[in-house]
Amino acid sequence: MRWVMMTTYLAAIVITLILMSVYILGVLGESLHTNESVQLFAKANIIADAVVMNESMQLDAGEQIKQIISGTGIRAIAVNPSCTVTYDSNSEASLVGKVLMRDIINTAMTGEHSQGLSEAEDGYNVMSVAVPMMKEDKILGVVYLSETIDDIDKTISYVKVNMIMFSVLISILVGMLSIGMSFLVTSPIDEFIRAAKEISNGNYKMRLNVKGENELAELSEAMNSMCQALENIDETHKKFISDVSHELKTPLATIKLICDSIVDTKEPDIEMIKEFLGDLSNEVDRLTRIVERLLTLTKIGNEEEQMALTPVDFNVMLNAVLNRLKPNAEAKHILLCGDFDAPDITPVLIDYDKIWEAVYNITDNAIKYTPENGTVKLELFAQMSELAVSVSDSGPGIPPEERDRIFERFYRLDDSRTRETGGTGLGLAIAKEAVLLHGGRIEVDESEFGGCRFTVFIPRRSSEV
Ligand SMILES: Nc1ncnc2c1ncn2[C@@H]1O[C@H](COP(=O)(O)OP(=O)(O)OP(=O)(O)O)[C@@H](O)[C@H]1O
Ligand SMILES: [Mg+2]
Repeated sequence: MRWVMMTTYLAAIVITLILMSVYILGVLGESLHTNESVQLFAKANIIADAVVMNESMQLDAGEQIKQIISGTGIRAIAVNPSCTVTYDSNSEASLVGKVLMRDIINTAMTGEHSQGLSEAEDGYNVMSVAVPMMKEDKILGVVYLSETIDDIDKTISYVKVNMIMFSVLISILVGMLSIGMSFLVTSPIDEFIRAAKEISNGNYKMRLNVKGENELAELSEAMNSMCQALENIDETHKKFISDVSHELKTPLATIKLICDSIVDTKEPDIEMIKEFLGDLSNEVDRLTRIVERLLTLTKIGNEEEQMALTPVDFNVMLNAVLNRLKPNAEAKHILLCGDFDAPDITPVLIDYDKIWEAVYNITDNAIKYTPENGTVKLELFAQMSELAVSVSDSGPGIPPEERDRIFERFYRLDDSRTRETGGTGLGLAIAKEAVLLHGGRIEVDESEFGGCRFTVFIPRRSSEV
């Protein structure tokens, strides 16, 4: 690219200079020739008039002609209608008495002014003009003037040499400038190529040096932001994989321990084996739960474009959640109640399974983390543009500084205790993803019962709109 830029600049400037030189030399040559011919014609006309006047007065015009052409290199010749030379200013090679045949003299004999360019024997260019000598309408002869125009040729070749030198100088300057320019433009591109290669090799930590305020600096900044985003995604992936491995390691280690215990026990009795197998089954259940929840999370992440939206009556959905969790609450003597019987709430367009799972996970938490004989209450509020479902409990609550973190994957407040209760730490992450997918949000604060309150906000998209 560097060479293409350089040669393009150079070719453009050389072509411009050549065209410019040809044009200037052409115009200069033409104007000098025109100027010369105008002067020759002027002199020829004066001579023609003088000859005619002198002839009518029976005088010799020779002296007057000499005066007119004195100080110039012009040769003046006068011919009569039969082309015989009657006067020649060149006395050394005088043509007087001889017949002079020239095309331009013949043309002038018809009454027209004419001019011509020819090459003399000594190699010089000669300009000649011929004008008729007229008395009334009668042609008395022709005045023929000729002059070498080597001055004009010298001027033109002098300008030509200067222009060639000037063009060469300009071309060298432009060449050097275009080398500098092409380096200036292409060296950041080299940097971009190097950066792109680094990124494709997985090095997202690299950053480009942002200099100035031009488009290339903007591109560098955009590339740096892209690297930052890729680095974040990469770190999230790595953390997720390490979290998953960590979560799977614990039940697998327990399973290994149980298996080793059975193998190492000599003559184990059936009761002991049954007990070990029971523990084994619990750990397998836990593993299955983790894998199922991970699959749910992945599915939510992938199905952004294909939500199965249906009009849902929230009263019906919340009742279904209550009925499903009633046995869990009863087992801990928890009062599970709902305050959401609002018949005027119109159905809202949502993906039923996803929002059901979100509300279920939050209510399940409330029952799970509330001590025996506590209270869990579900409420439904209809606001202008959104519906709010809140779940309040009388549990231990969540410290304000932990309220964002509990939505992270595998995050648990009291890791060892919740792990023992079978929690995977994925319930709230799934709930958050599902709600975000609907354009909603989840907020956490204190509840009226001393525990915490989770509120899910869902935008009201009704099927009629
Ligand atoms: N109502 C609540 N009261 C007190 N702590 C809670 C409540 N809800 C959630 N938490 C805390 O937030 C953590 C994350 O909850 P999340 O539902 O994501 O995971 P989990 O309940 O441990 O596991 P899973 O839901 O997969 O069974 C819980 O481990 C718990 O410490
Ligand atoms: Mg949970």
